[in-house]
Amino acid sequence: MGDTFQAERVTTGVKGLDAMLDGGLLRGSTTLVKGAPGTGKTCLGLEFLASGAERGEEAGAFITFEHFPRKLHRDARSIGISLEELEKKGLLRTVFTSPEVFITQVRQPEGMLDRLVREMGLSRIVIDSISHLERLSDDPLRLREIAYSFINGLMRHGLTSIITQEEPEILGTSATAAEFGISYLVDTVIQLSYVEMDSSINRALLILKQRASCHDKAIRQFRITDSGITVEKPFEDREGVLSGVPVRRELEAFMEAFGKKERRKGG
Ligand SMILES: Nc1ncnc2c1ncn2[C@@H]1O[C@H](COP(=O)(O)OP(=O)(O)OP(=O)(O)O)[C@@H](O)[C@H]1O
Ligand SMILES: [Mg+2]
Repeated sequence: MGDTFQAERVTTGVKGLDAMLDGGLLRGSTTLVKGAPGTGKTCLGLEFLASGAERGEEAGAFITFEHFPRKLHRDARSIGISLEELEKKGLLRTVFTSPEVFITQVRQPEGMLDRLVREMGLSRIVIDSISHLERLSDDPLRLREIAYSFINGLMRHGLTSIITQEEPEILGTSATAAEFGISYLVDTVIQLSYVEMDSSINRALLILKQRASCHDKAIRQFRITDSGITVEKPFEDREGVLSGVPVRRELEAFMEAFGKKERRKGG
């Protein structure tokens, strides 16, 4: 049974992330990557597609509701990915569309996904971002139905998917972010965050859930460079990392001891 799961893992292409995910994403599963603006959601999606395509094994599509293809190509270049080359080889397609059109296409027989699967053997897909679906309805129940049928559509086509979601809070996680229950519908949830430490901003990655896997529970630092994302060591000696403003454990211990001494002196 364990061997079967191992065989069905799909690499994310992100250095250090597959190990956190018990070997990678499960083939045919859906992953939500959520985070504040600029935390690296689009970069992570681009690396995931490029890693499948560069091996010449798995064709991918990047569905964007916000970036013109030119901007996406520029963003990919900044982390060492040439989308042009992958597109020329027929291993990658970028689709700039509206949520309305995409939802209709996912549901429709012989729609966009059927065509991409038939024409290029589509296996991986990134949707950037699901937050744009919010404008399709004011009713949270209706939005949940839309998200449900949309995720089912991706699964029906056997795609390994990454869906991004924007969070408004820069520091800390936002309980108020429009969720429409999507975290419950997906197999894996990855949280990207900013963390303020020693007067500078660091990046943090945490796997909030992964079905059928024993995933890493640590909150790890990561970097974005011109060769992509690298996940590194956990935040050591810090507490409250998810608040965005963690405190150093030794400092806390020192302050506690110092405080007691002061109180003893005074009392
Ligand atoms: N070569 C690089 N070196 C260092 N940082 C880089 C490099 N390329 C991109 N970045 C950083 O990556 C971040 C952009 O990441 P990305 O566009 O994936 O974020 P995002 O979460 O998708 O943001 P948004 O919600 O605004 O779409 C920027 O903060 C940028 O500074
Ligand atoms: Mg983005």
